[in-house]
Amino acid sequence: MKFIDLRSDTVTKPSDAMKKAMCDAELGDDVLGDDPTVTQLEKFTANLFNKEAALFVPSGTMGNQICLKAHTQPGWELLCERECHVVNYEVGGPAVHSQLLVNLLTTDHGMISAEQIRSSVRPVNIHCPLTKIVSLENTHNRHGGTVIPHDEVLRVKEVCDEFSLIYHLDGARIWNAHIASGLSLAELSAPYDSLSVCLSKGLGAPVGSLALGTEEFIEKCRRERKLFGGGMRQSGMLAAADLFAIEQNMSKLEIDHANAYYLAEKLNPLENFEIDLEWIHTNIIIANIVGNENSQSVFEKFTELQIGAIPTSPTKIRFVTHLDISKKDIDEVVERVVSVYS
Ligand SMILES: Cc1ncc(COP(=O)(O)O)c(C=O)c1O
Repeated sequence: MKFIDLRSDTVTKPSDAMKKAMCDAELGDDVLGDDPTVTQLEKFTANLFNKEAALFVPSGTMGNQICLKAHTQPGWELLCERECHVVNYEVGGPAVHSQLLVNLLTTDHGMISAEQIRSSVRPVNIHCPLTKIVSLENTHNRHGGTVIPHDEVLRVKEVCDEFSLIYHLDGARIWNAHIASGLSLAELSAPYDSLSVCLSKGLGAPVGSLALGTEEFIEKCRRERKLFGGGMRQSGMLAAADLFAIEQNMSKLEIDHANAYYLAEKLNPLENFEIDLEWIHTNIIIANIVGNENSQSVFEKFTELQIGAIPTSPTKIRFVTHLDISKKDIDEVVERVVSVYS
């Protein structure tokens, strides 16, 4: 039985055409600043997002953490959403690398409201930490790939301006937000001082993320990247895969979104699954497990059925569609699941 891997959109393998682009890439030493393919990727991406500059980094985690470090001083306070990747899955990076105090704000679907931000900004006096930076996530992973509402993003920007707060986006899956919302990448990224975006998720590249912001900010990030040990040499081979991923694979995200919605529609009527279809915006499904099952027992049954999924809490299990999953694979998943659950 074929293993159908819905654990994450990070599991995709480079296609032959992508591998050819990697082999054909013109290379240099990027730490010395002369890898033409990396420079091309950075300029191309900066232009796409209408930011002054971009920096190629090995991972989304490094992209986020370098941005936080380059923006802040020890003891400053970061406001972010309780389920965000930056705090939950980056090994305590804000504390370890930047010595930030983190204030986690609770939301229903991933978007912190302008009012929540306003009421969380501490008064400036000798007793309080300085509230200095806000980080959002779009799409929001642990909230099921939701596209955060752009009108609220803009309202938060007004509060950031009022209180001189730095505004960062973890845009690992901003490409999905772009395809689902119809807003351009430049529109989606305009409010933020910095972004980290990933090529190794839905776009299907093997490695690579970019930090984006002003030229001055990106120069600071370049220094931080070296400090993190993230300076890479002939990384044009990876950058070539990333350019290929943006140019060839972005429009295919629409298929992933349709497949995710289709799977959610099929799982939802089954006895042990509860999925709020209204919140399936992109390629991630977080199913609530109810009744006589929990996420671990479902995970074990899915493993026997050769279907990859990840439990994200005792009552939730995650499925992610991606470039290497076809509609036929989803039909196969449904057939296997229906043979066990009714
Ligand atoms: C929302 C989000 N941000 C950041 C990352 C980090 O990316 P990486 O695994 O490349 O460090 C991920 C990874 O899945 C993610 O889902």
